[in-house]
This record gives sequence, C-alpha cells and structure tokens, in this order.
Amino acid sequence: MATTQKTLAQAIRERRATPSFDGEPIEASDLRQILDAGLMSPSSYNLQPWRFVVVQNPEQLRKLRGACYNQAKVEEASAVIVACGDRDGWRKDIDEVIRVGREAGMPESYAAQMAGNVPPYLANFNEWQMAGWLNKQVMIAVTSMMWMAETLGYDTAPMEGFEQQGICETLKLPMSYWVVSLLAIGHLRGPQKFDGGRFDISHTVFGEEYGKPLK
Ligand SMILES: Cc1cc2nc3c(=O)[nH]c(=O)nc-3n(C[C@H](O)[C@H](O)[C@H](O)COP(=O)(O)O)c2cc1C
Repeated sequence: MATTQKTLAQAIRERRATPSFDGEPIEASDLRQILDAGLMSPSSYNLQPWRFVVVQNPEQLRKLRGACYNQAKVEEASAVIVACGDRDGWRKDIDEVIRVGREAGMPESYAAQMAGNVPPYLANFNEWQMAGWLNKQVMIAVTSMMWMAETLGYDTAPMEGFEQQGICETLKLPMSYWVVSLLAIGHLRGPQKFDGGRFDISHTVFGEEYGKPLK
C-alpha cells in the first residue's frame, strides 16, 4: 500500500486541475485506497447511491475521450473514475442499508424512521430534483477520492466536460444511471496548469447572515 506523500493541508495548497498525464499505470493497491476513500463518504441516510466505473484500458480510455469533447487528458490518465448516481439505487438498496446498519448497531428507532421517511421523500422527486440529490451525494465521494489520490502523490483532474449520452453508451450504463463527474488520476506530464487564484474570502463567506463579514 502506498504511503502518504503529502499531508492533506499540503495537497489542498498544491493541487491543480492537471492539464496532461504521463499515462503510467496506477498501482492496484493505490487505486483501491482511493476508491475506499470515496466509499467511506457520508451520504443521505447512508443510501450510497453512487456507482463508479473505473476505466484504465487504453482502448476504453480512447473511446471515453470521444464522449468528453475529445479532451486528451481523458486518454492520457492512468485511470478515469466515472462517477455516477443511480436514480433507482435507494429503492433497490434501502432494505440492505437497514440490514447492514442493524448489524453495525443501528437503533431500531432509526431503522423505523428510515423505512418510513425515505420512500415518500425520494419517490416524489422529479427528474431534476433527483439529479440534484445525486450530484450532492456523488460529489462528496469524488472529492474524497480526489484528496486521497493527491495525498498519495497522484495528480488529479475533475471533469464535467462530457456528453451524458455518450458516456452511457460507451460504458453500457443502466438507464437509471446519471453521470455526475469524471475524476482523472495519474501523474502530471509537462508544465502544471496556472494557479487561477481565488476570490477574497469576503466575496464568498458571510458571518451570521448574508452580507455581513465574518468576524
Ligand atoms: C466539477 C468540475 C468539473 C470540471 N471539468 C473540467 C473539464 O471538463 N475539463 C477541464 O479541463 N477542467 C475541468 N475542471 C477544472 C477547472 O477548470 C479548474 O478546477 C478551475 O479552473 C480551477 O483551477 P484549479 O483546479 O487548478 O485550481 C473542472 C472542475 C470541476 C470542479
């Protein structure tokens, strides 16, 4: 198993959206550690509606690139994790979530609350509410994977530049899947991307209510 190359604070300081990768294969144990970080993420009611397709095969990466507006880094990456949400995941998995939860010590009151609350909440979502809900759940997992990869010494690139239908066809995804994001992982080749900088904190963070500066 790879050892940590950077602290989280260092990774947060130094990370860039990697422009180009050298294509060297990723260690299977590293990949597993990265995936585990995503799978350990929190999700609403622990429903874990995320699904991930890991693409490493050069021919499959080439096809994937075709569904990503021909972005070269898709083909160059050591691995691309295609992060999806399953619109029907909660329906299929709720009993299993409760069963696993009970084994791990979930109180009966919590199990009953879940069984009672989840179906009426999620069954009424329209298409866009479901997409929004899935985006929330899946992006936490993607972010956890990104930081784990970065602390292990890899470079990463989150990507939304893809065609939903093209990815679904290329990866033969079930109809209920919604593609949320791609996460390309590998090692930087060539110059790093420029640091675009960030807004001053006063532009995006408020204290107590909108418009008041955080003291
Ligand atoms: C959800 C998401 C989707 C993105 N999609 C793409 C993409 O398709 N192609 C790309 O080159 N960069 C993509 N980026 C990278 C952003 O352009 C980049 O994060 C931003 O310019 C800030 O640069 P930095 O990450 O190096 O600080 C994406 C970033 C995020 C968070």
